Amino acid sequence: MEVRKITVIGTGYVGLVSGTCFAEIGHEVTCCDINEEKISLLRQGNMPIYEPGLKELVHKNVSEKRLYFTSNIAKAIQAADIIYIAVGTPMSQTGEADLTFVKQVAKTIGENLNGYKVIVTKSTVPVGTGRLVASLIRTHSQSSQPFDIVSNPEFLREGVAIQDTMNMERAIIGASSEKAFQIIAEVHKPFNTKIVQTSVETAEMIKYAANAFLATKLSFINDIANICERVGADVTKVSEGIGLDKRIGHQFLQAGVGFGGSCFPKDTAALHHIAKTYGYDFKLIDAVIETNFNQRVFFVEKVEAALGSLQGKIISVLGLSFKPNTDDMRYAPSLDVIPLLREKGAIVKAYDPIAIEEAKKHIGYQCTYFEDLYETIENADACVILTDWSEIKELDLVKVKSLLRKPIIIDGRNLFDLNTMHEHDFMYVSIGRPV
Ligand code: UGA
Repeated sequence: MEVRKITVIGTGYVGLVSGTCFAEIGHEVTCCDINEEKISLLRQGNMPIYEPGLKELVHKNVSEKRLYFTSNIAKAIQAADIIYIAVGTPMSQTGEADLTFVKQVAKTIGENLNGYKVIVTKSTVPVGTGRLVASLIRTHSQSSQPFDIVSNPEFLREGVAIQDTMNMERAIIGASSEKAFQIIAEVHKPFNTKIVQTSVETAEMIKYAANAFLATKLSFINDIANICERVGADVTKVSEGIGLDKRIGHQFLQAGVGFGGSCFPKDTAALHHIAKTYGYDFKLIDAVIETNFNQRVFFVEKVEAALGSLQGKIISVLGLSFKPNTDDMRYAPSLDVIPLLREKGAIVKAYDPIAIEEAKKHIGYQCTYFEDLYETIENADACVILTDWSEIKELDLVKVKSLLRKPIIIDGRNLFDLNTMHEHDFMYVSIGRPV
């Protein structure tokens, strides 16, 4: 494998993890960001995000002199053979992906183009962004240096990002030339992964289609769960039963309080917007988004039904991040559920093993935060579970029962066995299962 000089612009989850993994497989990588605070944090060996195993891998590659951090983006662009764009594409008010950062980076690349480079987009961007990046680079470039554009979307999951990258299931490479395809395919060789060669536009579409499909699976099983509740069936058994069909598969069939995170909510909204822009009425994705929001509302209604009224009731909310092993609060169910509980008059005590500082930025002081799981439960009228952290799964149920005012648990993640909960005499309300 030829060692490449790779510059990754953007040190969020995608940029930092991909950059570090490219270094780990032997490339010389510079990760850069306009946020100088982040860069100085990284230079001191601290991580701006929580991701298991990341800190150790960053330290290893920095000490082995394959991984560097800088806020001098211009210099990093000039020094690179390959430039990865991994900046954020947040959801704008219309649901459209906000391309401000991508456009800024394209301009800076144009201004600093000093030889042939491959410009790769890793950020999730609407179809056609590759072409836009190319035209912005051309517009802002003084020289007539050649370059190529590649779309190489990222499929890592937060919480298992290193593992997902080092053992990637596939690499989608949509290149504007065969030369650029070969370069990026070669970069991926040590990952020993399946490579799919496409056009730039197809690669961009694959990313949206993948996330939209997974989100659809989740809203589908949540709808099935809601029907299960009405007909007296058990959704966990339905998932097991249908998942045994290889064409359906077991993954992403856990019913719950609805999906969150930085990707599914943003990407489903963006795909809805793309379809609308091109005159296509994508009804299925609209329903997926609506079902997901309703799932939060139905959940709060269940809490209310279990307690009679929420006025003045103390609710212990367990788990704030959108999923376990991350402190990411973006579009977390807790951001909808806690305000809804408060609107109905509840007093909320909240616990999360690592996301409290992040939660404070999003939820503020609408609830009191606890660092101890059992202190959060003490004297509450009910426990509400929002994130499937392993320590919540391993709750000492005898202790929980002795600490709660009433033995009521409303579980948005189906963490406990129904018989066990009956044996402990809990009123246990979960998703898509009999009470
Ligand atoms: C997701 C995709 O899984 C990645 O492949 C993709 O690269 C990433 O988005 C992205 O676009 O960058 P992530 O957002 O990290 O990854 O989280 P997931 O593990 O996929 O979980 C998403 C949400 O679905 C979470 O809120 C989770 O609690 C929920 N979920 C997942 C369920 O409710 N039930 C399940 O069975 C699975």
